[in-house]
Amino acid sequence: MTVRHLVSIDDLTLVEIREIFAMADRFSTDLRGHAELCRGMISASLFYEPSTRTRLSFESAMLRLGGGVLTAADMRSTSASKGESLADTVRVVSGGYSDVIVLRHPSEGAARLAAMYSSVPVINAGAGSHEHPTQTLCDLYNLWVERGRIEGIEVVLAGDLRYSRTIHSFAYALARFGANVICVPAPGFELPDYVVQRLREEFGVEPQRADASRLGDIAARSDAVYLTPHKPHQLSLFTDARGLTVERVDAVYMTRPQTERHPDGGSGISDYVRLGKDQLAAESLRDAVVMHPLPRRDEISAEIDDDPRSIYFKQAARGVPIRMAILAVLTGAVRLETQARVPEVRLHRTPLGDNPCPNPTCISRTEARHVHPAYKIAARAPLRAHCGYCSQELRFALVGCTTSRRFHPRDSSETRKIRPDHLSFFSDERSALGAGFLPVDRPNPAPTSVEAGGAPIRAVPEPG
Ligand code: NCD
Repeated sequence: MTVRHLVSIDDLTLVEIREIFAMADRFSTDLRGHAELCRGMISASLFYEPSTRTRLSFESAMLRLGGGVLTAADMRSTSASKGESLADTVRVVSGGYSDVIVLRHPSEGAARLAAMYSSVPVINAGAGSHEHPTQTLCDLYNLWVERGRIEGIEVVLAGDLRYSRTIHSFAYALARFGANVICVPAPGFELPDYVVQRLREEFGVEPQRADASRLGDIAARSDAVYLTPHKPHQLSLFTDARGLTVERVDAVYMTRPQTERHPDGGSGISDYVRLGKDQLAAESLRDAVVMHPLPRRDEISAEIDDDPRSIYFKQAARGVPIRMAILAVLTGAVRLETQARVPEVRLHRTPLGDNPCPNPTCISRTEARHVHPAYKIAARAPLRAHCGYCSQELRFALVGCTTSRRFHPRDSSETRKIRPDHLSFFSDERSALGAGFLPVDRPNPAPTSVEAGGAPIRAVPEPG
């Protein structure tokens, strides 16, 4: 039987997510009444980064389901500090030590890598600035409980949209559910291009300028953007001078500056978005719930903690029943009725070529000695590909074929004839020649000893 992982929010279909909500509802009415479900099972928390809510709510969830927990809350106390790779650690911890692994890591794509080596389900509890799917399930569940639906609601995403992994998973899911998103980034912390590109290409979302004057102060210093999945307006980004008017908001989702991931350590922040009594007085926010994945710094003032619209502590409390549901499903303790078949997307390994992932904190670069670069084809003509770990668009100028050992310019029609498993990417001619590849117009060389070909590896289920 194939092991099911939760690496990206896309690993679950919308039908499954709704079933998980219903299950979390049942758990929340009686948190102590389900201690038979995971009896005898063990979850292992591997946390390479600090955590309060995610780790403790996962551990509480497993204990409430009757299972046990192994905790490596500070990986400096493990063999990671002796240089052990993530792949090796996961092979060991999934080999009889535990029935499910909950992993947090500073590198984008770490959970994807772990899933490739684990014999038990891996749950991504936050990987760099990439994704945080279980926080998103918690956030969606909160919207579902508070608003009764997600389809068609208006959600403001505010703060550090560039480096917040919670924002990225949440934006993908909101797009799939058909919610409207208004981005209110702190200046310089807009959504990264690869996220916008994905929202556009895979979910049909078109970003447009938003007229956010009715949001009052929170949007005053921000270039607000509307992300709407309904596609009623075929204007491209910023062609409409006035923009779409933000009328009435259902939820404001605030995030802290993710300074630990800022290249300058946070010194570049000015004019960060803030929510206090004055901002909440805006007419458009009259009925909006205020959410935050926590921890907060001073982007949400304590003066609004008692406002009935502030639900961030309730939101954190709901992390327990939702994570009970996630654990119950992934360990197989409870079967989802719908069991939707999630189509498989193939990742292809590129054993040759210089790693074209442009992201210095991607796991394919931070653990380069242990990780084969892997990619996903985004388009064939011209050829575009995304890193299979961190989703960023690969940068390359030349494309090699590992069977013919020839390379071609990226935009050559010849590249379309190369099977994905036989592609190799190079930034320039020097590295292609260095790897034993030749230009198409050069005669055949003596046989090379360089290993050819890369096996496809199974991974990433598609959005439902
Ligand atoms: C978030 C995280 O770790 O990404 N926290 C959490 O899991 N509740 C948000 C944050 O740290 O800002």
